[in-house]
Formats: sequence, structure tokens, C-alpha cells
Amino acid sequence: MTRVTRRQFLATAAALGAAPLWAGKKSRSSPAATSRERRDLYPEGVASGDPQPDSVLLWTRRPYDTGARGQLLVEVAKDDAFKHVIASTHAAVSAASDWTCRVLAGNLEPATVYWYRFTDETGQTSRVGRTITAPAESDPRPVKFAFISCQNANDGSQHAYRRMIFEDERAPQAERLGFVLHLGDFIYEIVWYPEDRPEGMYDRKLRDIVRYEHGEKIEDFHIPTTLDDYRSVYRAYLHDPDLQDARARWPFVPMWDNHEFSWRGWQSFQVFDSATRPQQTRKVAAMQAWFEYQPARIRKSSGPSLESFDAPKVVNAPITRFDPHGLGNEPNNLTALGSLTGYRAMRWGRHVELIITDQRSYRSEDPTSRPEAQDFSSKDFPELVPQEVYEILDAGRIYAGGKPPDTIPFGNKQVANFRKSDPPQTILGAVQKAWFLNRLKTSTATWKVWGNTTGTLDFRADPKNLPKGLTTPWPGAGYAAGFGAGDHSTAYVERAEIYSFVRGEGITGFATVAGDRHSFWAGLAAETLPPKAFDPIGIAFVCGSISAPGVVEALEHKFPKEHPLRALYLAQPPGTTKPQPAVNMLLRHGVRSCLEYHKSGDVERARRLSNPDLAPHLSFLDLGGHGYATVRASADTWECEFVCIPRPVEHVARRDGGPLLYRVVHRTPLWKKGERPQLEQRVMEGNPILSL
Ligand SMILES: [Fe+2]
Repeated sequence: MTRVTRRQFLATAAALGAAPLWAGKKSRSSPAATSRERRDLYPEGVASGDPQPDSVLLWTRRPYDTGARGQLLVEVAKDDAFKHVIASTHAAVSAASDWTCRVLAGNLEPATVYWYRFTDETGQTSRVGRTITAPAESDPRPVKFAFISCQNANDGSQHAYRRMIFEDERAPQAERLGFVLHLGDFIYEIVWYPEDRPEGMYDRKLRDIVRYEHGEKIEDFHIPTTLDDYRSVYRAYLHDPDLQDARARWPFVPMWDNHEFSWRGWQSFQVFDSATRPQQTRKVAAMQAWFEYQPARIRKSSGPSLESFDAPKVVNAPITRFDPHGLGNEPNNLTALGSLTGYRAMRWGRHVELIITDQRSYRSEDPTSRPEAQDFSSKDFPELVPQEVYEILDAGRIYAGGKPPDTIPFGNKQVANFRKSDPPQTILGAVQKAWFLNRLKTSTATWKVWGNTTGTLDFRADPKNLPKGLTTPWPGAGYAAGFGAGDHSTAYVERAEIYSFVRGEGITGFATVAGDRHSFWAGLAAETLPPKAFDPIGIAFVCGSISAPGVVEALEHKFPKEHPLRALYLAQPPGTTKPQPAVNMLLRHGVRSCLEYHKSGDVERARRLSNPDLAPHLSFLDLGGHGYATVRASADTWECEFVCIPRPVEHVARRDGGPLLYRVVHRTPLWKKGERPQLEQRVMEGNPILSL
């Protein structure tokens, strides 16, 4: 590694909007009094982010009651008692950035634990934070990290973090986590106030932690409309002690998903009540709040202020013209999207290059969210849509070599192909995709890790194999896809473009880690599934949510009791009293297995009826799992561990974060060019029988 000069470092800090802090060679003891820790004055705690071998971002929030500005002393030490302080500086906080503070600490040693804290003018200090620099690029040691997503503090508890902390504290030094990759839905901007749903949300009671001053009520929930509204969600969430302790223990590498801006949002659009509305002002507000609360090496467009975001001015203008990749050309849209650029790549030692992409800001409209797509859903087949429908809609005008059909058969109907003249769907957008492919190609790390906030593994079912007479005939030609789609699992054209690039360039060690689905998934990345060729080129994983409800919980509450296909989603074998998540078996083994399991409760017998062509890409899935995932990436092996906790309905105050439901490890030896990646599965604790 070539060491960064002080001058280069100052320029980097300025570009990130962070105060620079250059570590010296000698250490000294701290002038700040350790006894005057006042966590109440720093109510959102401390955090660090995006470590590199020689630098890391530090963060806190210190709101002052009076005045518009304040100044904090920032110290970095080699010990948590601050006897060996190696750097200190002053950084401003101001009302303009909601009293948040970003500091880039530089000239640090690689793969080293540091401690940091903030002290105000009256000598009152924040809690002490711990952070870790990345190993140098030549470092051959294994890299360990966690990936997580989807924490909903309104209707769940965040004690999955407590379990992560507990296990990390007990791990040998070399096996501790180097960082936490947060793949989005750090906040949920849609908020039900307790009075909106007195019966609660599924299994949960609603917590009264967010009230929007300028919120807009849609149906029975509320959304933020201003910068202050967005900020208020971050503050409320960061008051959670488990989350706050996690941010004080590890550097986070955060990326936004949809809920940091808007549930069904894309580019600067919000979609509610089947209406798509341009909301450039809200997109900028969402990006500003993210910038203020997430220390990360992201690029803001507003110039080199170290303290504030300086939001670009935009208005909510109609977006009616799109470029050939579906990007709205309207100037306010482009300005809003450009206000913060989140996609980036970072390196940990010899083995990990993390390439993080933004799935929301540049994507074209999701065809499945269009009102016309409703014509392809059927109450007889909940959540299932013929795969060929998704393929035709995704490809638009390039389907079948540029000869898309005018209509798409759906049962006895012919439905208009409303995407016939449109370009194929893109989730990354043209500019980001070119950057992404180039990073994949040029990376020299053993493992090229795609931090994709959304999942890539196909959801499939085989309703065509249902016994005659059970329900109406399946309206599709072959397999069903579904369960919401809208991610890379139904962006077939773009996903195939990426995967065939990986194959064509001979890239090995391609591993995707994702969130968003509120479920655990482990599998192989392949362009196509049977009856087409199945030829995987990588491995792919999705982590369960920290706390947001998953599909199984929703099915338990909403799936009709008398539906003829209930056993495919929620099985209830003889002698059992509670429905079981057969939907996992449906997507992994198919309808025959589910019907058998419901009838006999014999899982072995049910698996013997597995449809081998349905999901050769899947090793594991649990649409009801919560918790976190860890990765250990070494010179020759990738190991991904799923740590699943019971549904986090109520807070668990135990030091270990409460019991586990299961712990499952998937292990992959590094494959050579032209070889097929393989996943080995080991269930270490618990028995997630319907997930295997
Ligand atoms: Fe989520």
C-alpha cells in the first residue's frame, strides 16, 4: 500500500464532508476528563464508518440547546482509557446539519483497533466508541464481517445486535468482525402510529417512537415530507440501546435501500395508491438525512463543506421524458439523484473487495409495480405469477430477439403487453452498471463481493404440478415466479448481462450479499434455471431482517383459512396446532412436497417428492427468519453463517440477546475459472426443517 500524504488526506476529508484528523507518531494522555461521560448529551451515541487501512470516519451528534454552533474535541486513542491518544482535533457541529459531526481520522495503522470519543466545550464527553481499520491490501489473513438489513424500530426489537455483540466479544481476536455491512432499511419511513392500528402489526404492538411534524397520511400510515421528518426517524431509531451499542463497537459500512427514501420509490418518484408522483424535494431531504446520520465515503454534490450537506435546490417537477435506460431526464430529478452518490468499492486485505451498488436511485420503473401488471395475478394462486410473464415484461422491446408479443396469454385471457415498446428493465442504470462491471473485472481480491441491497436468487414454484381438481388450472405455461419480485430475481436481462460478463471475463470468487427480503437465502448465482441451462457462476446470500416482519408472519395473519392451496404456504400436519412455513418448502422443493408434508408431517417423505428442476440454485431459504449473517473469507474458502433468532416481537434484555432458533453455515471452496461453485451446508444449531 502506498501511504497517503497529508495533503491527499485533507482533500479526501473535504470531499467527504468530514473534518480531518491526522494521527501523529507519538501518543499522549488525554486532557479530557474520563469521569465526565454524559451519554444524555449525545443521545444518538457514536459511530464509525467505511474503514480503510489508514483511515476511518467517526461520527456523533451533540445537540445544543442554545446557539447555532458548537465545537467538539475529537480524540483517537490506542486504548479505551485514553492513556495513549494518537490524534485529536476540533470539529464543528451546527444546527444546519442537525448537530451531527463527521470526522475522518487518518494516518492510522491497518487492521488495528482504535478508540474514539467526543468532548464538548464544557468537558462533557460522549460514550467511547471502538473502531477497526481495514487490513492492508497485502494482508493474507481471513476477513470476517457481518451483513444485515431491515430494522423496523416501530414494530420490532433490535436485540439481534445484542447477540452479535455477545458472540463477537467471546470470539478469539482473529475471528472477530472487522466491520458490519448494513444493506439498508436502516429506517422505515412509513410509520403507523399506535392509534392507526390499535390491533398492532401482525404479531407486534406498535411502538410510539416517531411522530412526523409535517407528515402526510396515506391510507392508515404516515410518511415524511421534510428534512426534519426524515431526521426524526434516524434519531428515534438511534435511541435503541442495542443498535447504538453495535454502532459503538464496529465500523459500519452502510448503504440505503428503499425505505431510507420511500417504500416503492425509484429515482425521485414515490408510488402510493397506484399513483407515481415526482418528489425531488423529498429525495434530496432523504439523502441529506442519510448523509447526516451515516458516516460513509459517499459523494455529495454540494461542495466541500465539512459540516453540512448544503442541499441543492430542486422542485417537484413532472418527469415525463426518459433516456434509453429509463432514467428520467428532468433536471430536478437528475439533481436530486446526484445530491448523494452511494455506490462505492472498498478493499479488506488480500481477500475481500466489497462492491456496493445503489438499487433504487437509477433504476427504471419496476414493470411489476405498474397497475396493468395486476391482470397477471390470480386469487387462486396467491403471490405467484407465470415466470414467462415476468420475462416478457422485463425484456420489453428486446424480448424474443426484438419481436415481443402484442399480448401475453394468462389462462384463457390474452393480456396486452404494456412493455412492448419499452427498453429492458435496469436496476443499476447504465452509468453505475458500467462502473460495477469494471470494478468486477479489475479487482485483484480473492472474493469479489457484490453488496446488492436487494436479492438476486429466483423465487420459483411449480403450480403446474398440482393434482387435477384441487383448484383451477395454473394460468401460466411453466413455472411461477413471484412473491413481489421487483429485485434482480426478475430483472432477467440485466442479471444475465452481469453473470455472462462474470463468466466471459473468467472472474472467480464472485459472491453476492443482499438484504431487503426479510429472509435468509443461500444459493448459486445462475442466469437461467431448468428447463433452460443451469450453469452457476457465483454464490449468493440474503440475510434475514434484524426486526422487520417477514413473509411468513404476514401469511400467518392474512392467508385465507379455507384457501384450497393453503398447505403450500402454511402447512398444518396432523397432530400439530400451529401453521408451519411450508412456503419455504414450496420454493425449494415444490408443490408435491408441500402437499405430502401437510398430509403426513413426514419431512423425509415430502423431500422425496422434491422437483429437482425447480430450484437447483437454492440450498436454503427461510421466509420467516430474523437475525444476521456473517462471512469469513479466506484464501481458499468462503463461509457464510446465518444466525437466526425467534421473531423479535418484544425486547429481550438478556446479555446474550436471547435464544437462537438455528445457526446454519454454508461453505464454498474457491473455484477456478471454468469450474462450478459448490455450497456445502452444515446445520450447527437448531433444526430449520422446512428450509433445507
Ligand atoms: Fe426491509
